[in-house]
Amino acid sequence: FGYGSVDITSLRPDQIERVLLSPAEIQRRVAELGQQISTDYAGESLVLVGVLKGITFFLADLARAITRPLAIDYLQLSRDLREGVAIRKDLDLDIRGKHVLLVEDIVNTGLTLDFIMRVLREREPASLEVCALLDKAERRLVSVPVKYVGFTIPNEFVVGYGLDYRELYRNLPFICVLKREVYEANGNGHLIGGTGQEAAA
Ligand code: XMP
Ligand code: MG
Repeated sequence: FGYGSVDITSLRPDQIERVLLSPAEIQRRVAELGQQISTDYAGESLVLVGVLKGITFFLADLARAITRPLAIDYLQLSRDLREGVAIRKDLDLDIRGKHVLLVEDIVNTGLTLDFIMRVLREREPASLEVCALLDKAERRLVSVPVKYVGFTIPNEFVVGYGLDYRELYRNLPFICVLKREVYEANGNGHLIGGTGQEAAA
């Protein structure tokens, strides 16, 4: 189970059901998005806001594909069953009067994005748009304006290229669906074969 020049034998290929997006497909699309964004923001500078931690790889690649002056900032959310979604780590930058592009890894129901948009809008940026690498459009519950979409994908849980299952698999260079038994092994501490490393939430 090789992937181009990438040796993923250490990444437990036996846990992968199927690869949805190859590294080459991802890079091609990220380059296109970068070009489109560069055109749309001609003559402007912008602030890329990434939502941690899934965004690490996509934001790094997208930022380098945008040929405009830009600042990068991050926020992180916490999810609590009772208290709902809250900001765990806020932006460092003041975005008032700035052109803000919120960069998300994946939009599902849209609830997370809707929450973030409300928070950012209150700060009165000059503009606020969204770029999401992945869109599970069929799962949408609230309508959210996603101007730039990398790929629309089916309603399956995906990992890789920043996306995790219990904090693992973020470093896969592609985006894939894991085998059922990986999720069913949930919590037994054997997600990474041989290391005995517990899969932390
Ligand atoms: P909502 O439903 O609020 O969900 O749009 C968006 C958040 O849910 C997480 N999410 C996923 N994470 N693989 C992941 O690793 C997936 O297939 C997936 N689907 C949703 C993600 O944190 C996103 O911000
Ligand atoms: Mg996650």
